[in-house]
Amino acid sequence: MISSADQAASHWDEKYASAVRSAWVQNPLVEREVYRRMTGEPVHWLWWLFNPTLPKADRMLAIGCGDGSHELSLAGNGSVRHITAFDASPVAIEMAQRAARDQNLSIDFQVRLFEEFVAEPPSDTFDLVLFSGSLHHVTDLEGMLSTVRKVLKPGGHVVVNEYVGPIYQLYPQSQIDIINRVLDATPPVFLAAPDARLRLPTIEAIMAHDPTEGVRAPLIPALLPMYFKPKHERRVGGALLHPIFDCLNGGKVNDGSAESEAYVSMLIALENELTAAGALNHDFMFGIYSLD
Ligand SMILES: C[S@@+](CC[C@H](N)C(=O)[O-])C[C@H]1O[C@@H](n2cnc3c(N)ncnc32)[C@H](O)[C@@H]1O
Repeated sequence: MISSADQAASHWDEKYASAVRSAWVQNPLVEREVYRRMTGEPVHWLWWLFNPTLPKADRMLAIGCGDGSHELSLAGNGSVRHITAFDASPVAIEMAQRAARDQNLSIDFQVRLFEEFVAEPPSDTFDLVLFSGSLHHVTDLEGMLSTVRKVLKPGGHVVVNEYVGPIYQLYPQSQIDIINRVLDATPPVFLAAPDARLRLPTIEAIMAHDPTEGVRAPLIPALLPMYFKPKHERRVGGALLHPIFDCLNGGKVNDGSAESEAYVSMLIALENELTAAGALNHDFMFGIYSLD
């Protein structure tokens, strides 16, 4: 029988091979708003992270690095001297290695599973460990976080940019109803299809695609402070914007026209109001933690 980790790896191989990306942060207005929620400033969180929040790091470990976009940026701008990064997807790692070669950057990209890292941690130690969109795929969160504690140098940091919403993205009915009411009121030109509405996946679809999607995600915010000292924690919303973008016509809604920007600005304002009123939870978080 194929394991959840192997199933996840082949799902991500297909995603990277077909260049499918999370739709919501492809929109510049949403991207800027998410960065503002993460850092208080409308700048990319990676730039904010090292300037002025953290000192430049000597050695970083990126866990679940995908195609390495964040790691390539950090190596390219000199924020981190030595980067080791691993992911389950051989397709993603090959893309990352090719990009590093093309950009003349030396980054140690490896094909490795979370489970292998926990079972056999590296003997190296790191100033910084990065989880960007990967911790919510970890089943053994306790094993992972205690292993990270072992591989951090004294004074080291963990940075987490994560989905922390419902397991398998099985949203509560109240959230689905809000999203579908917004879609009912959306001009058809912005919809991916005239009948585009948010529907929960079947359990067969969850198991066939990625059985690790948000597998223990709601526990992440509570567990992190049990292993590390919080230095900066922000809840960054996403309960409307993240799922609704999958129901929208990406080409139209991201075309930069005045009508598209007005529609997206309305969605952002609506999410902020509904979250502040307690009608929606925060499905994403950003945190910086220190070992001591
Ligand atoms: C949402 S992507 C995030 C990728 C990248 N960090 C980013 O920010 O673009 C989640 C990544 O976790 C990886 N992943 C899922 N399960 C894994 C496992 N068991 N071991 C290692 N990586 C895994 C996937 O291959 C995928 O690249």
